[in-house]
Amino acid sequence: MSDNRNGLTAKLIDQLPKAELHLHIEGSLEPELMFALAQRNKIDIPFKNVEEVRAAYDFSNLQDFLDIYYQGMGVLLQQQDFYDLTIAYLKRAHADNVRHVEIFFDPQGHTDRGISFDTAIGGILRGLEQGEARLGISYRLIMCFLRHLDEASAFNTLEQAEPWIDQIAGIGLDSSELGHPPSKFARVFGAARAKGLKIVAHAGEEGPPDYVWEALDELKVDRIDHGNRALEDDELVQRIVNDGQTLTVCPLSNLKLCVIDTIDQSPVKRMLDMGIKATINSDDPAYFGGYVNDNFRAVAEALPLTPEQIVVLAKNSFTGSFLPEEEKAQRLEEIDSVAKQLS
Ligand code: ADE
Ligand code: ZN
Repeated sequence: MSDNRNGLTAKLIDQLPKAELHLHIEGSLEPELMFALAQRNKIDIPFKNVEEVRAAYDFSNLQDFLDIYYQGMGVLLQQQDFYDLTIAYLKRAHADNVRHVEIFFDPQGHTDRGISFDTAIGGILRGLEQGEARLGISYRLIMCFLRHLDEASAFNTLEQAEPWIDQIAGIGLDSSELGHPPSKFARVFGAARAKGLKIVAHAGEEGPPDYVWEALDELKVDRIDHGNRALEDDELVQRIVNDGQTLTVCPLSNLKLCVIDTIDQSPVKRMLDMGIKATINSDDPAYFGGYVNDNFRAVAEALPLTPEQIVVLAKNSFTGSFLPEEEKAQRLEEIDSVAKQLS
């Protein structure tokens, strides 16, 4: 690509308004904050310094990462800790021109170690409200069920969410995918849908195309998280295109978790070429070495992506969001106007 086109791509990535649709707030816990919270809460962590923590972030697969991720969130005890975590992420996202976030949290990762549901969600929501007031970032909160736990635990979590239900936009499904198909949670997602909640699920990150079919047919998802392995099944790709499903792709996550061997294997360009509404997201940025613009830059260079594709990806992040249609339209106009100024 010419230097001019490269320059334009870099500017578009920096300056286009974006939404982030796949972000685990616990996965935005930077080692510096982990140490600060460990000290504040008088918790021992098995690392001497930040460099040692970063060196431990060398994963062969999803489970390798999850073991460290659940250990890391052990420093979150007080409502203030969840607030600090959320504000730190929003400040970082703001620097990338992220204007809207739909973030996940894992209540069972906290309640199972004795932290109340209210402590976790109370701190996160206070952070999100402050972020909207101070940084102008709109938000939706998505509560995830941990799929390695059982259906009863998910039902129990949904019950604990009841007093907060108006502040929860949707339900997601995350954690260890292999051996825990979406169908395991069909009934509890049915109950969530009956409450008017949006539905998303991690599917096809490590799991087979069948898990993506189940997410569509049994959970009736409004959006698919990752979805990489859907590309192995032509009929499934056609279904995703026909339904207009958005896929939240996470390139640096895929690389760090060995879903792909090199960044040029990211499926995001192929997805766009097939007519899939792909988006770019950071997943667990503190663990995978990059926030949303780092993810954009990595694939823009490696695949490469054209300036037009960068604009499409930014637009998809809003059209695939749970914002009302008028707000989506407003954001798309802003994208067109920034793109026009830059071109
Ligand atoms: N929890 C946090 N990040 C995750 C990922 N990439 N896949 C599944 N569960 C997760
Ligand atoms: Zn994820």
